[in-house]
Amino acid sequence: MEGKESSKEIDISRVRGIVSKFTDRDDPNLISVLQNTQDEYGYLPKPVLKEISNLMDIPLTRIFGVITFYSQFALEPRGKHAVKVCSGTACHVKGAEDVKQKLRDELQVREGGTTADYQFTLETVACIGTCFLAPVMMIDERYYGKLTAEKTSEIVGTYTNK
Ligand code: FES
Repeated sequence: MEGKESSKEIDISRVRGIVSKFTDRDDPNLISVLQNTQDEYGYLPKPVLKEISNLMDIPLTRIFGVITFYSQFALEPRGKHAVKVCSGTACHVKGAEDVKQKLRDELQVREGGTTADYQFTLETVACIGTCFLAPVMMIDERYYGKLTAEKTSEIVGTYTNK
């Protein structure tokens, strides 16, 4: 599911189906509704959150509280490719900051941000369990290790028109 809809294109009816699946249950679970909604839209558009608030009779402020607590939720559209740079100790010691700086320069995006063309979202994550490959990043589901700034640039280049 691509997450690139402008607010004009957002089809609210899709969230009604999601909410109804959960409110039919004895214990409607807001987190499950939000997860399913994000899977459907690619992120959590504000008009959709207002609809969830109305349908589930949950104050919008409480919904935002849940969203900000869980890092899995995104309030803005995400890029086609998720770039996750490890900031764990081993990676930090082995030069993760150089990798991050290269990505910020190359993609012209801050951490947590998405490139203007919606190709990449850059994130920093805690240890991803491959310290022997430090410094490490993931692009989508693939791991890249023993990175240098130069190698990072080459790898990102291979995704540019995918
Ligand atoms: S610290 Fe980066 S993979 Fe463990």
